[in-house]
Amino acid sequence: MKSVFSPLALSLVIAIAGLGLLNLDYAASVPAAATADYHYSTLHSRDGIGKFYLGREIAKVMSHREMLWLERPSREIQEQPDRLMASLGLQGTEIVADLGAGTGYFSFRLAPLVPQGKVLAVEIQPEMLDALEFLKQENGLTNVETILGTAENPHLPEASVDLALLVDAYHEFEYPKEMMQAVYRGLKPGGKVVLVEYRRENPLIPIKALHKMTQRQAKQEMAAAGLVWQETQEFLPQQHVMFFEKPLESRV
Ligand SMILES: C[S@@+](CC[C@H](N)C(=O)[O-])C[C@H]1O[C@@H](n2cnc3c(N)ncnc32)[C@H](O)[C@@H]1O
Repeated sequence: MKSVFSPLALSLVIAIAGLGLLNLDYAASVPAAATADYHYSTLHSRDGIGKFYLGREIAKVMSHREMLWLERPSREIQEQPDRLMASLGLQGTEIVADLGAGTGYFSFRLAPLVPQGKVLAVEIQPEMLDALEFLKQENGLTNVETILGTAENPHLPEASVDLALLVDAYHEFEYPKEMMQAVYRGLKPGGKVVLVEYRRENPLIPIKALHKMTQRQAKQEMAAAGLVWQETQEFLPQQHVMFFEKPLESRV
């Protein structure tokens, strides 16, 4: 019997089904182009922006409309914030930047650990900073400062930061190269970057692929900004805790 589908129609059906299964999307508005640092593809994950850095597709920014998700009680068990804070080895006088601070889930846990220092909570969404400011007033915290950054620049004071913490945020930076170059400039020589990302090596961690990173990818991207990997601590159930350093002998 003759097939009701022509070979061309059949190929089209298979291709469309394939895109769905692979969670791929076709965004006609994104130009298929490349720059020295980034490349763009019209065929990309529906969780991503069609822009790739060192082979990794950048995830969509989590909207401020979902901010309650950042305050969900289950984070205490899933992300064990107290253990993360303890791993940072803060002495009390440091300037700490919380990059992609959201509602301040980590900023407010950092603040009591640096009573003679301060926390710079950096965000690109003013609505997140509004929520953070509200919680700061409610809790009477005086050593948290908010900074409205841009997608390319966290507006940190030059060579002033002891430690930059990025939890579940870096993978959605639209300009990761420019951001990390700016972070590098903001760090003191010997200053640290602590990058916390869900383990992409593990397919069983129930988080969207673009919201996870492999250690290999993270190290490659931090190295591109001049940051030297020191160690990775694997005490959290689902996330890597990766420590990088701006070399002591570096230029500011
Ligand atoms: C998934 S949330 C995580 C928030 C917080 N770190 C936490 O764990 O609760 C990621 C945040 O990064 C912010 N973000 C994305 N790109 C940014 C950039 N270039 N500079 C600063 N913040 C950024 C987003 O607005 C969003 O609030």
